Amino acid sequence: MNLLRKAVRSIQRRAVKVVLPNPRPGHGEYSMIYDTLNTYGRPSDYLIDLALRAAQEAWRTELPDLSRRVDADSNDFTRIWPGEHYRLLAALVKLLQPKRVVEIGTLHGLSALALKKFLPNAGKIDTFDVVPWDSLSDTSLRPEDFEDDRLGQQIGDLSDTAVFELHRSLFQQTELLFVDGPKDGIFERKLLQQLETVDFHKPLLLVMDDIRFWNMLAIWQDIARPKLDLTSFGHWSGTGLVEWHSGTNSEKRKH
Ligand SMILES: C[S@@+](CC[C@H](N)C(=O)[O-])C[C@H]1O[C@@H](n2cnc3c(N)ncnc32)[C@H](O)[C@@H]1O
Repeated sequence: MNLLRKAVRSIQRRAVKVVLPNPRPGHGEYSMIYDTLNTYGRPSDYLIDLALRAAQEAWRTELPDLSRRVDADSNDFTRIWPGEHYRLLAALVKLLQPKRVVEIGTLHGLSALALKKFLPNAGKIDTFDVVPWDSLSDTSLRPEDFEDDRLGQQIGDLSDTAVFELHRSLFQQTELLFVDGPKDGIFERKLLQQLETVDFHKPLLLVMDDIRFWNMLAIWQDIARPKLDLTSFGHWSGTGLVEWHSGTNSEKRKH
């Protein structure tokens, strides 16, 4: 089934490139833009205020220690803002001072390091991936990043109910959740369904990456909680903020 779905997607992708060739040079992704009618979950005053302050803070924040972790022959995306999310993530932690942060999608560790930069002393980040960080030859992480126990990596696929159950108590404590996993159109939907079942002990800010990817458009639309598309001050492929603690998805509201 998965193979069939992948084959259909691959044919669709090839076909769309022929019908709608990229109109400008550069790496682009297919997406759609929508009017504000039939859109679930409008931004709350809380999110608008937080986003304005986070953008201001990201503008002022530089991450030279992250830049130093990037190979000289690679692009340093951690310096780019707006357009990349590293400075915005660091700014959100600076403002919210969350004690528990969860990230999904470690890859080279640069977003984990951005999240760690302004973490309070008593804070902790758990970054999830299906691939151990030290199995990647081009990782930006170092063993010493984990020594103070404020950063840890968990290996597991949280769309699997059994894996999610193992970490339920961690999610209950989480105040900031950054979701930057596979964006395969399945994982994120399942994860959001799992989050619906969590009794969060503190208010949760959910930050979702790549919300403008074709695969993510419907998933983002279906979140009926207060939410804000902050792409212009985040990642070019889409950055979304959700005030998870306000409302539930059973209260779908149209505006
Ligand atoms: C876009 S990368 C993350 C980039 C990183 N957050 C950053 O901003 O630098 C996506 C990561 O998601 C991981 N991934 C894929 N499927 C996953 C899953 N089911 N659970 C957790 N991570 C997953 C991939 O291995 C990859 O490292």
